[in-house]
Amino acid sequence: MKTIVAMPGDGIGKTVLPEAIKVLSAVNFNAEYIHADIGWDFWCKEGNALPQRTIDLLEKHKIGLFGAITSKPKDAAAKELDPSLQGKGYVYFSPIVSLRQLFNLDICIRPCKSFKGNPLNFIRRSDSSFEEPLVDAVIFRQNTEGLYSGVEWTNPPKAVRDAFETHPKMKSFKNVPSEDLAISTRIVTRNACRRILREAFEYAKKFGYSNVTICEKPNVLRETSGMMFNEGKLIAKEYPNIQLWDTNIDAQMMWLTKNPEIYGVIVAENMFGDIISDGFAGLIGGLGFACSANIGKDVAIFEPTHGSAPKYQELNPSIVNPMAMILSACMMLDHLGENEKAEKIRKAIAQVIEEGKVKTYDMLKLKGGPDVFSKGACTTQQMTDEIIRKIK
Ligand code: NAI
Ligand code: MG
Repeated sequence: MKTIVAMPGDGIGKTVLPEAIKVLSAVNFNAEYIHADIGWDFWCKEGNALPQRTIDLLEKHKIGLFGAITSKPKDAAAKELDPSLQGKGYVYFSPIVSLRQLFNLDICIRPCKSFKGNPLNFIRRSDSSFEEPLVDAVIFRQNTEGLYSGVEWTNPPKAVRDAFETHPKMKSFKNVPSEDLAISTRIVTRNACRRILREAFEYAKKFGYSNVTICEKPNVLRETSGMMFNEGKLIAKEYPNIQLWDTNIDAQMMWLTKNPEIYGVIVAENMFGDIISDGFAGLIGGLGFACSANIGKDVAIFEPTHGSAPKYQELNPSIVNPMAMILSACMMLDHLGENEKAEKIRKAIAQVIEEGKVKTYDMLKLKGGPDVFSKGACTTQQMTDEIIRKIK
């Protein structure tokens, strides 16, 4: 039996995670789930959104299912801290970003595959009518470094400024006072490039994708994008049956709506991967469908890409779409070698969508609120029940 660390977190994370567990039980996945504390309540009560006891559980059991958390800006976060903790130097930090760094979950996988019949699928004008290209892109986002490595300053200390001044291009900023200068760095390591590229090519090989696209900007970001691209060319030689493509992030956003169906596996640095995966997610139905995996050498955490949707957390019954969470649980099954069970769930979801009888509010393109049921939307739980009915 597997032990899964279940971290519902905040808002609708608390709603959708139990739904995914119901579906996992329906395919007889043999597991016990240990609840772990994470998120806003623990920030407010303990000054720590990621308590050590949660880290310990993940260290021990290695596999986590995560719902979503609520984050607020620094000042707002400080105000909500328990009065007994205020002014004691506690600083809010996003617990999911912390988890990615702490366990070096450097491989982020975000599959964006359209389900036939999804009313939210992207459509494109063809000669005389419309066509619906089926998208099947899997984004491999480097998850720990790049522009999100967190090495940044406003008013950089003198030593930092001096070091930067050694670069000829800093001449243009010579007369800017340090207090008017903000610097965020884009740090890329060869090792991390190799890891994400290797995983991407292996995935393409395993699941039969004919191309891997490196989506960067090496003509401008010569050093960092350049390193990713050069490593990509080397690794690609080991996979003669898979084509290596490269696109620039800006052009890729344009091609997103021109020919999204031609892309298979896509590799990108942290921020570019963030952007491109949201772009592709929009073509296949948006946040209600977007699943992801964060994978490190030891630990792996599976989560929908949506957040805690506080607007909807109080609605009872709940209106949100559980599919993104359930599809993330399928990625966990794949990771654990339970591919048949994962496929069974994905097939059931595909059937529910294609039949089109049961739809959450997002699938009906409704504005969220308690009135969506009277307009034909199902509840979160009804959607799960329908998926389970198809499994049985
Ligand atoms: P969000 O993803 O929580 O919600 C944005 C909108 O997307 C919602 O209002 C809703 O219309 C729709 N949506 C989200 N999930 C849905 C679902 N399962 N079914 C149907 N519709 C869905 O993003 P937002 O509102 O920008 O952020 C809310 C909070 O979540 C913030 O505190 C933010 O920091 C946090 N957040 C956490 C993430 C995480 O835990 N990984 C990721 C993104 C945001
Ligand atoms: Mg994002």
